[in-house]
Amino acid sequence: MYFKVRAATKEDCKEVSRMIMELAVYEKMPDQVKISHEELEHDGFCQNPFFECLVAEVPEEHKSNEGFTVVGYALYFYTYSTWKGRAVYLEDLYVMPEFRGKTCVAVLLAKLKKCKQCVRLQLSVLNWNTPTRDFYAAKGAQDLTVSEGWHFIRFDGQNLDNLANEAPKD
Ligand SMILES: CC(C)(COP(=O)(O)OP(=O)(O)OC[C@H]1O[C@@H](n2cnc3c(N)ncnc32)[C@H](O)[C@@H]1OP(=O)(O)O)[C@@H](O)C(=O)NCCC(=O)NCCS
Repeated sequence: MYFKVRAATKEDCKEVSRMIMELAVYEKMPDQVKISHEELEHDGFCQNPFFECLVAEVPEEHKSNEGFTVVGYALYFYTYSTWKGRAVYLEDLYVMPEFRGKTCVAVLLAKLKKCKQCVRLQLSVLNWNTPTRDFYAAKGAQDLTVSEGWHFIRFDGQNLDNLANEAPKD
């Protein structure tokens, strides 16, 4: 194994930010990325961090064609199931194309599994991303949209502001 998986530090945020964009390009939504590495540095490394992150790193002699040594990441945070208890939500999982198929992702997921004795790991994946859907299915994940009919709901922008503005004033 020529890579190591370790907890990201503040100094890794530029590299994580680069891979967030690579993943967004893969997901065909690069315009949606508004976060800067400075925000990652703050939000991930403040007193009550909003997320945790693992990175996969290769030694200099195995660096990528473009010269990168941080070649994959898993960014996650904790949630809570009122039915099952402690849970972890995997926001992003990414390995650079030239480093795929080398068990890097297995190590990322194994380390993630040890997080705070969580009983559940949840994530979302795009409908058309069948290689990754097949990958999760092969690892034993259930597709909850198929099996239980859950929808993934989001408020943001003006609709989120409206929620606060529409509330009766105290
Ligand atoms: C998803 C991703 C992180 C997986 O990393 P990877 O390095 O390609 O994974 P590996 O090739 O090492 O595969 C790990 C295991 O899954 C299996 N697998 C991989 N792709 C598979 C597929 N399409 N169907 C079934 N099994 C698959 C491998 O055989 C391997 O099995 P093993 O652990 O028993 O040896 C990587 O492909 C990636 O970054 N994809 C693009 C980004 C993405 O879709 N991220 C997830 C967003 S939700």
